[in-house]
Amino acid sequence: MIVISTVYDLKKYVIDKRIKGATIGLFPTMGYLHEGHISLINRSVEENDVTIMSIFVNPTQFGPNEDFDKYPRDFANDCKLAENAEVDVVFAPNVTEMYPNNYNTYVDVQNITQFLCGARREGHFKGVATVVCKLFNICMPHRAYFCQKDYQQVQVVKRMVLDLNMNLDIVVCPTIRESDGLAMSSRNVYLSSDERAQAVVLSQSLMVAQKLVDAGERSAKVLAMKVEQEIKKATLANIEYAEIVDCELLNRIESVDTKALLALAVKFGNTRLIDNSILEV
Ligand code: PAJ
Repeated sequence: MIVISTVYDLKKYVIDKRIKGATIGLFPTMGYLHEGHISLINRSVEENDVTIMSIFVNPTQFGPNEDFDKYPRDFANDCKLAENAEVDVVFAPNVTEMYPNNYNTYVDVQNITQFLCGARREGHFKGVATVVCKLFNICMPHRAYFCQKDYQQVQVVKRMVLDLNMNLDIVVCPTIRESDGLAMSSRNVYLSSDERAQAVVLSQSLMVAQKLVDAGERSAKVLAMKVEQEIKKATLANIEYAEIVDCELLNRIESVDTKALLALAVKFGNTRLIDNSILEV
């Protein structure tokens, strides 16, 4: 495995591989890898000749009061895990490499970014779309790997790829969970032991909602209310949103007719956790 930190060197590497006919998989990350990340690496390694994993804590997707400075980082351990998982290249640029002086171009996907996390994290998806677009241009992948845990992020990236006629496939992988159901996240390390124990309510409430749908409940309002009741059983939980929305457009719906997205954002202290599931009739 090699580590590359400049755009110039990475492009040179990729162009050489492309000339030789190799297929390239890209897995964009902000590092601090967990087993969820490893599952996406495995998928890329299976499906491509070359796997590039980027590690870049992207400042443009963090709000002024968010955890950019505090975001957990462990580059040496990430490299060890990446090498064990057979990543070929870790691309780890610094901030000025990605955003040099006078940087002025942003990708702003409209509409679907107004809902859910987009409504609460001003500018977040503009930062995500911009950095992902840059990573696609730098790494020129045939396929790029994302996880359904960040459902809105996936929709934003898919929209951008379609709208801007980008030449790659977006592969969406399932959320990997701890044994009690908590979705793995780099931010889980922030949780105190009490918060960690209570954080299981997110996945539990998703299951409660599907059971209600199975029992015939169709009203989005009633389902969201029951989900909130379930989450509130955790005394340390502060609900940011628990919404039932259209799977494609992400706008609110009245009733679950065939399927719908149930999306959650819940804070434990300063730690903001998200999770979601597709409710199916
Ligand atoms: P990061 O939070 O590091 O996540 C990198 C990828 O890992 C994302 O596609 C994310 O959805 C996926 N992932 C997170 N938790 C997972 C889990 N429990 N199981 C499987 N995969 C999981 O998402 C970002 O970084 C950034 O926004 C990025 C796309 C890199 C742009 O900066």
